[in-house]
Amino acid sequence: MARILQVQDPETIRVAVEALRRGEPVAMPTETVYGLAADATHPAAITAIYEAKGRPRFNPLIAHVSDIEMARAHALFSPLAERLAQAFWPGPLTLVLPLKTDGGIHELATAGLATVGLRVPQGFARTLISAFGRPLAAPSANRSGRISPTSAGHVAEDLKDRIDLVLDGGPCKVGVESTIIAVDGDKLTLLRPGGVPVEAIEEAAHGKVRRNESGETGIIAPGMMRSHYAPEAKLRLNAVDVRPGEALLQFGAEPLSGEEQASWARNLSPAGDLREAASNLFSFLKQADGNTKAGIAVAPIPLEGLGEAINDRLSRAAAPRD
Ligand code: TXA
Ligand code: MG
Repeated sequence: MARILQVQDPETIRVAVEALRRGEPVAMPTETVYGLAADATHPAAITAIYEAKGRPRFNPLIAHVSDIEMARAHALFSPLAERLAQAFWPGPLTLVLPLKTDGGIHELATAGLATVGLRVPQGFARTLISAFGRPLAAPSANRSGRISPTSAGHVAEDLKDRIDLVLDGGPCKVGVESTIIAVDGDKLTLLRPGGVPVEAIEEAAHGKVRRNESGETGIIAPGMMRSHYAPEAKLRLNAVDVRPGEALLQFGAEPLSGEEQASWARNLSPAGDLREAASNLFSFLKQADGNTKAGIAVAPIPLEGLGEAINDRLSRAAAPRD
Protein backbone atom coordinates (compact mmCIF):
# COMPACT_ATOMS: atom_id res chain seq x y z
CA MET A 1 0.00 0.00 0.00
CA ALA A 2 1.31 3.44 -0.91
CA ARG A 3 2.27 5.83 1.89
CA ILE A 4 0.25 9.10 1.86
CA LEU A 5 2.04 12.21 3.15
CA GLN A 6 0.43 15.63 3.61
CA VAL A 7 2.10 18.44 1.65
CA GLN A 8 1.67 20.81 4.62
CA ASP A 9 3.99 18.63 6.69
CA PRO A 10 7.47 20.25 6.52
CA GLU A 11 9.11 16.79 6.30
CA THR A 12 7.21 15.84 3.14
CA ILE A 13 9.32 17.74 0.65
CA ARG A 14 12.55 16.20 1.98
CA VAL A 15 11.15 12.67 1.80
CA ALA A 16 9.85 13.32 -1.73
CA VAL A 17 13.15 14.75 -3.00
CA GLU A 18 15.04 11.75 -1.57
CA ALA A 19 12.70 9.33 -3.33
CA LEU A 20 13.10 11.26 -6.61
CA ARG A 21 16.91 11.18 -6.22
CA ARG A 22 16.71 7.39 -5.85
CA GLY A 23 14.86 7.32 -9.19
CA GLU A 24 11.49 6.42 -7.66
CA PRO A 25 8.21 7.83 -8.98
CA VAL A 26 6.17 9.95 -6.57
CA ALA A 27 2.52 10.95 -6.99
CA MET A 28 2.15 14.71 -6.56
CA PRO A 29 -0.76 17.14 -6.62
CA THR A 30 -0.94 19.77 -9.37
CA GLU A 31 -3.69 22.31 -10.00
CA THR A 32 -5.03 20.15 -12.89
CA VAL A 33 -4.85 16.49 -11.78
CA TYR A 34 -2.43 14.38 -9.72
CA GLY A 35 0.75 13.52 -11.61
CA LEU A 36 3.07 10.52 -11.27
CA ALA A 37 6.40 12.34 -11.20
CA ALA A 38 9.96 11.14 -11.72
CA ASP A 39 13.31 12.60 -12.75
CA ALA A 40 12.97 13.41 -16.47
CA THR A 41 16.72 12.96 -16.99
CA HIS A 42 16.89 9.47 -15.43
CA PRO A 43 16.02 6.54 -17.75
CA ALA A 44 15.23 4.02 -14.97
CA ALA A 45 12.99 6.55 -13.22
CA ILE A 46 11.04 7.17 -16.43
CA THR A 47 10.72 3.45 -17.08
CA ALA A 48 9.27 3.09 -13.57
CA ILE A 49 6.50 5.57 -14.49
CA TYR A 50 5.57 3.66 -17.64
CA GLU A 51 5.52 0.42 -15.67
CA ALA A 52 3.40 1.71 -12.79
CA LYS A 53 0.85 3.10 -15.26
CA GLY A 54 0.97 0.27 -17.78
CA ARG A 55 1.43 2.99 -20.39
CA PRO A 56 2.54 2.40 -24.00
CA ARG A 57 6.14 3.61 -24.42
CA PHE A 58 5.41 5.55 -27.62
CA ASN A 59 3.33 8.01 -25.62
CA PRO A 60 5.57 10.91 -24.50
CA LEU A 61 5.43 12.54 -21.05
CA ILE A 62 5.12 16.20 -20.13
CA ALA A 63 8.25 17.62 -18.46
CA HIS A 64 7.29 19.83 -15.52
CA VAL A 65 9.69 22.68 -14.79
CA SER A 66 9.88 25.25 -11.99
CA ASP A 67 10.06 28.35 -14.17
CA ILE A 68 10.68 29.67 -17.65
CA GLU A 69 14.47 29.66 -17.08
CA MET A 70 14.46 25.91 -16.48
CA ALA A 71 12.19 25.50 -19.52
CA ARG A 72 14.61 27.43 -21.75
CA ALA A 73 17.37 24.92 -20.95
CA HIS A 74 15.28 22.18 -22.57
CA ALA A 75 13.46 23.77 -25.52
CA LEU A 76 13.69 26.47 -28.14
CA PHE A 77 11.27 29.31 -27.47
CA SER A 78 9.94 31.36 -30.38
CA PRO A 79 8.77 34.87 -29.42
CA LEU A 80 5.19 33.58 -29.45
CA ALA A 81 6.06 30.63 -27.18
CA GLU A 82 7.73 33.10 -24.84
CA ARG A 83 4.60 35.26 -24.79
CA LEU A 84 2.31 32.32 -23.95
CA ALA A 85 4.66 31.09 -21.21
CA GLN A 86 4.71 34.58 -19.67
CA ALA A 87 0.93 34.82 -19.85
CA PHE A 88 -0.05 31.40 -18.47
CA TRP A 89 2.79 29.95 -16.36
CA PRO A 90 2.54 28.78 -13.71
CA GLY A 91 -0.74 27.27 -14.87
CA PRO A 92 -2.62 24.61 -16.84
CA LEU A 93 -0.91 25.17 -20.21
CA THR A 94 1.57 22.73 -21.79
CA LEU A 95 3.68 24.04 -24.68
CA VAL A 96 5.08 21.54 -27.19
CA LEU A 97 8.32 23.06 -28.45
CA PRO A 98 11.45 21.96 -30.35
CA LEU A 99 13.60 19.92 -27.93
CA LYS A 100 17.13 20.95 -26.97
CA THR A 101 18.79 17.56 -26.74
CA ASP A 102 21.72 18.83 -24.67
CA GLY A 103 19.34 19.94 -21.88
CA GLY A 104 19.35 16.44 -20.38
CA ILE A 105 15.70 15.34 -20.72
CA HIS A 106 15.95 11.66 -21.57
CA GLU A 107 14.55 10.37 -24.86
CA LEU A 108 12.44 7.84 -22.98
CA ALA A 109 10.46 10.81 -21.64
CA THR A 110 9.92 12.35 -25.07
CA ALA A 111 9.44 8.94 -26.76
CA GLY A 112 12.21 9.92 -29.14
CA LEU A 113 10.31 12.89 -30.62
CA ALA A 114 12.09 16.07 -31.72
CA THR A 115 9.73 18.09 -29.51
CA VAL A 116 9.06 18.26 -25.78
CA GLY A 117 5.92 19.16 -23.84
CA LEU A 118 6.74 21.60 -21.02
CA ARG A 119 4.69 23.13 -18.27
CA VAL A 120 5.16 25.05 -15.01
CA PRO A 121 2.54 23.75 -12.55
CA GLN A 122 1.07 25.79 -9.70
CA GLY A 123 1.52 25.26 -5.98
CA PHE A 124 3.28 22.37 -4.25
CA ALA A 125 4.44 20.67 -7.47
CA ARG A 126 6.37 23.79 -8.43
CA THR A 127 8.00 23.98 -5.00
CA LEU A 128 8.98 20.32 -5.30
CA ILE A 129 10.60 20.84 -8.72
CA SER A 130 12.56 23.83 -7.39
CA ALA A 131 13.79 21.76 -4.44
CA PHE A 132 14.71 18.86 -6.74
CA GLY A 133 16.41 21.15 -9.25
CA ARG A 134 15.59 19.12 -12.36
CA PRO A 135 12.50 18.69 -14.57
CA LEU A 136 9.95 16.10 -13.50
CA ALA A 137 8.29 13.93 -16.11
CA ALA A 138 4.71 13.44 -14.95
CA PRO A 139 1.73 11.86 -16.65
CA SER A 140 -1.56 11.77 -14.80
CA ALA A 141 -1.28 9.39 -11.82
CA ASN A 142 -3.75 6.76 -13.03
CA ARG A 143 -3.39 3.40 -14.68
CA SER A 144 -3.31 3.88 -18.45
CA GLY A 145 -6.80 4.32 -19.91
CA ARG A 146 -8.47 5.14 -16.59
CA ILE A 147 -9.92 8.37 -15.25
CA SER A 148 -7.33 10.94 -14.12
CA PRO A 149 -7.23 11.33 -10.33
CA THR A 150 -8.15 14.63 -8.69
CA SER A 151 -7.55 13.48 -5.10
CA ALA A 152 -4.83 11.57 -3.27
CA GLY A 153 -7.37 8.91 -2.34
CA HIS A 154 -8.12 8.23 -6.01
CA VAL A 155 -4.41 7.88 -6.77
CA ALA A 156 -3.88 5.42 -3.92
CA GLU A 157 -6.95 3.41 -4.93
CA ASP A 158 -5.89 3.14 -8.59
CA LEU A 159 -2.11 2.66 -8.22
CA LYS A 160 -2.20 0.87 -4.82
CA ASP A 161 0.86 -1.37 -4.59
CA ARG A 162 2.41 -0.08 -7.82
CA ILE A 163 3.89 3.03 -6.16
CA ASP A 164 5.28 3.83 -2.71
CA LEU A 165 4.53 7.49 -2.14
CA VAL A 166 1.50 9.75 -2.65
CA LEU A 167 1.75 13.42 -1.68
CA ASP A 168 -1.65 14.69 -0.57
CA GLY A 169 -2.43 18.31 -1.46
CA GLY A 170 -6.23 17.97 -1.30
CA PRO A 171 -8.59 18.12 -4.29
CA CYS A 172 -7.24 19.62 -7.55
CA LYS A 173 -8.54 23.11 -8.21
CA VAL A 174 -8.87 22.91 -12.01
CA GLY A 175 -9.83 19.24 -12.30
CA VAL A 176 -9.07 18.63 -16.01
CA GLU A 177 -5.59 18.25 -17.49
CA SER A 178 -3.62 21.08 -19.06
CA THR A 179 -4.36 22.50 -22.49
CA ILE A 180 -1.64 21.29 -24.90
CA ILE A 181 -0.54 23.68 -27.65
CA ALA A 182 2.17 22.93 -30.20
CA VAL A 183 4.09 26.08 -31.08
CA ASP A 184 5.85 26.04 -34.43
CA GLY A 185 7.33 29.52 -34.89
CA ASP A 186 4.23 31.70 -35.04
CA LYS A 187 1.82 28.81 -35.69
CA LEU A 188 -0.28 27.40 -32.85
CA THR A 189 -2.02 24.01 -32.96
CA LEU A 190 -4.34 22.65 -30.30
CA LEU A 191 -3.30 19.10 -29.36
CA ARG A 192 -5.61 18.76 -26.34
CA PRO A 193 -8.24 21.13 -24.91
CA GLY A 194 -7.78 21.57 -21.15
CA GLY A 195 -7.60 23.90 -18.18
CA VAL A 196 -6.88 27.09 -20.14
CA PRO A 197 -9.74 27.88 -22.55
CA VAL A 198 -8.59 28.19 -26.17
CA GLU A 199 -10.26 31.62 -26.35
CA ALA A 200 -7.89 32.89 -23.64
CA ILE A 201 -4.86 31.59 -25.56
CA GLU A 202 -6.01 33.26 -28.78
CA GLU A 203 -6.47 36.52 -26.91
CA ALA A 204 -2.95 36.41 -25.44
CA ALA A 205 -1.46 35.31 -28.78
CA HIS A 206 -3.36 37.93 -30.82
CA GLY A 207 -4.01 35.13 -33.29
CA LYS A 208 -5.84 31.92 -34.06
CA VAL A 209 -5.17 28.46 -32.67
CA ARG A 210 -5.50 25.82 -35.38
CA ARG A 211 -7.60 22.70 -34.91
CA ASN A 212 -7.86 19.88 -37.39
CA GLU A 213 -10.45 19.85 -40.19
CA SER A 214 -13.14 17.82 -38.44
CA GLY A 215 -13.30 20.41 -35.70
CA GLU A 216 -12.13 17.99 -33.05
CA THR A 217 -8.59 17.52 -31.87
CA GLY A 218 -8.19 13.93 -33.09
CA ILE A 219 -5.04 11.95 -32.40
CA ILE A 220 -2.35 14.57 -32.91
CA ALA A 221 -0.90 14.14 -29.45
CA PRO A 222 0.22 10.51 -29.50
CA GLY A 223 -1.61 9.77 -26.25
CA MET A 224 -4.95 11.10 -27.31
CA MET A 225 -6.54 7.78 -28.16
CA ARG A 226 -10.25 7.99 -28.82
CA SER A 227 -11.12 5.59 -26.06
CA HIS A 228 -9.67 6.96 -22.85
CA TYR A 229 -10.87 7.80 -19.36
CA ALA A 230 -12.79 4.57 -19.59
CA PRO A 231 -15.38 4.03 -16.86
CA GLU A 232 -16.95 0.56 -16.65
CA ALA A 233 -20.41 1.95 -17.34
CA LYS A 234 -21.64 3.15 -20.73
CA LEU A 235 -22.05 6.91 -21.06
CA ARG A 236 -25.00 8.57 -22.78
CA LEU A 237 -24.01 12.17 -23.62
CA ASN A 238 -26.29 15.18 -24.19
CA ALA A 239 -29.10 13.27 -22.49
CA VAL A 240 -32.44 15.10 -22.36
CA ASP A 241 -34.07 12.44 -20.18
CA VAL A 242 -33.09 9.80 -17.65
CA ARG A 243 -33.82 6.11 -18.13
CA PRO A 244 -34.57 3.75 -15.22
CA GLY A 245 -31.51 2.89 -13.13
CA GLU A 246 -29.09 5.24 -14.90
CA ALA A 247 -26.70 7.34 -12.87
CA LEU A 248 -27.14 11.01 -13.73
CA LEU A 249 -24.51 13.71 -14.16
CA GLN A 250 -26.58 16.88 -14.24
CA PHE A 251 -25.44 20.37 -15.24
CA GLY A 252 -27.25 23.66 -14.59
CA ALA A 253 -30.70 24.33 -13.19
CA GLU A 254 -32.86 22.80 -15.96
CA PRO A 255 -34.42 19.53 -14.71
CA LEU A 256 -34.35 16.47 -17.01
CA SER A 257 -37.43 14.34 -17.48
CA GLY A 258 -37.30 11.06 -15.59
CA GLU A 259 -34.73 12.33 -13.05
CA GLU A 260 -36.52 10.45 -10.27
CA GLN A 261 -35.63 7.16 -11.99
CA ALA A 262 -31.89 7.72 -11.56
CA SER A 263 -29.97 5.26 -9.37
CA TRP A 264 -27.68 8.11 -8.29
CA ALA A 265 -27.43 11.77 -9.26
CA ARG A 266 -25.03 14.68 -8.81
CA ASN A 267 -24.95 18.10 -10.43
CA LEU A 268 -21.54 19.13 -11.86
CA SER A 269 -22.58 22.74 -11.32
CA PRO A 270 -26.13 23.72 -10.35
CA ALA A 271 -25.27 27.34 -11.27
CA GLY A 272 -24.01 26.28 -14.72
CA ASP A 273 -20.43 27.36 -13.93
CA LEU A 274 -18.00 25.51 -16.25
CA ARG A 275 -15.04 25.94 -13.88
CA GLU A 276 -16.94 24.29 -11.07
CA ALA A 277 -18.07 21.54 -13.47
CA ALA A 278 -14.47 20.86 -14.59
CA SER A 279 -13.24 20.58 -11.01
CA ASN A 280 -16.00 18.06 -10.18
CA LEU A 281 -15.88 16.10 -13.44
CA PHE A 282 -13.50 13.19 -12.76
CA SER A 283 -14.51 12.55 -9.17
CA PHE A 284 -18.24 12.56 -10.04
CA LEU A 285 -17.61 10.36 -13.08
CA LYS A 286 -15.85 7.86 -10.84
CA GLN A 287 -18.69 7.93 -8.30
CA ALA A 288 -21.33 7.58 -11.03
CA ASP A 289 -19.46 4.58 -12.37
CA GLY A 290 -19.67 2.84 -9.00
CA ASN A 291 -23.39 3.57 -8.57
CA THR A 292 -25.13 2.24 -11.66
CA LYS A 293 -25.89 -0.95 -13.54
CA ALA A 294 -27.69 0.83 -16.38
CA GLY A 295 -25.11 3.36 -17.60
CA ILE A 296 -24.54 7.05 -16.97
CA ALA A 297 -26.68 9.81 -18.49
CA VAL A 298 -24.87 13.14 -18.86
CA ALA A 299 -26.79 16.39 -19.39
CA PRO A 300 -25.69 18.70 -22.24
CA ILE A 301 -22.73 20.93 -21.38
CA PRO A 302 -22.01 24.03 -23.48
CA LEU A 303 -18.94 23.87 -25.72
CA GLU A 304 -17.46 27.26 -24.84
CA GLY A 305 -14.55 28.00 -22.47
CA LEU A 306 -13.72 25.04 -20.22
CA GLY A 307 -16.72 23.25 -21.73
CA GLU A 308 -14.50 22.25 -24.65
CA ALA A 309 -12.18 20.24 -22.36
CA ILE A 310 -15.14 18.79 -20.42
CA ASN A 311 -16.88 17.62 -23.61
CA ASP A 312 -13.59 16.24 -24.97
CA ARG A 313 -13.05 14.06 -21.86
CA LEU A 314 -16.69 12.96 -21.82
CA SER A 315 -16.65 11.90 -25.46
CA ARG A 316 -13.46 9.88 -24.86
CA ALA A 317 -15.09 8.27 -21.83
CA ALA A 318 -18.12 7.42 -24.01
CA ALA A 319 -16.14 6.12 -27.01
CA PRO A 320 -16.31 2.42 -27.91
CA ARG A 321 -13.40 0.53 -26.34
CA ASP A 322 -10.55 -0.45 -28.63
O1 TXA B 1 -2.40 18.59 -16.56
C1 TXA B 1 -1.63 17.79 -17.09
O2 TXA B 1 -1.15 17.96 -18.21
C2 TXA B 1 -1.26 16.54 -16.28
C3 TXA B 1 -0.53 17.01 -15.02
C4 TXA B 1 0.01 15.88 -14.21
O3 TXA B 1 0.49 17.93 -15.36
N1 TXA B 1 -0.47 15.64 -17.05
C5 TXA B 1 -0.98 14.89 -18.06
O4 TXA B 1 -0.07 14.03 -18.65
O5 TXA B 1 -2.15 14.96 -18.42
P1 TXA B 1 -0.49 12.83 -19.58
O6 TXA B 1 0.75 12.07 -19.80
O7 TXA B 1 -1.64 12.08 -19.00
O8 TXA B 1 -0.89 13.52 -20.92
C6 TXA B 1 0.12 14.16 -21.67
C7 TXA B 1 -0.27 14.22 -23.11
C8 TXA B 1 -0.25 12.87 -23.81
O9 TXA B 1 -1.42 12.77 -24.59
C9 TXA B 1 1.00 12.95 -24.70
O10 TXA B 1 0.86 12.21 -25.87
C10 TXA B 1 1.09 14.43 -24.98
O11 TXA B 1 0.72 15.03 -23.78
N2 TXA B 1 2.46 14.87 -25.29
C11 TXA B 1 3.52 14.91 -24.47
N3 TXA B 1 4.63 15.32 -25.13
C12 TXA B 1 4.26 15.55 -26.40
C13 TXA B 1 4.93 15.96 -27.58
N4 TXA B 1 6.23 16.23 -27.59
N5 TXA B 1 4.21 16.10 -28.72
C14 TXA B 1 2.87 15.83 -28.73
N6 TXA B 1 2.19 15.41 -27.65
C15 TXA B 1 2.85 15.27 -26.51
MG1 MG C 1 -3.41 10.93 -18.66
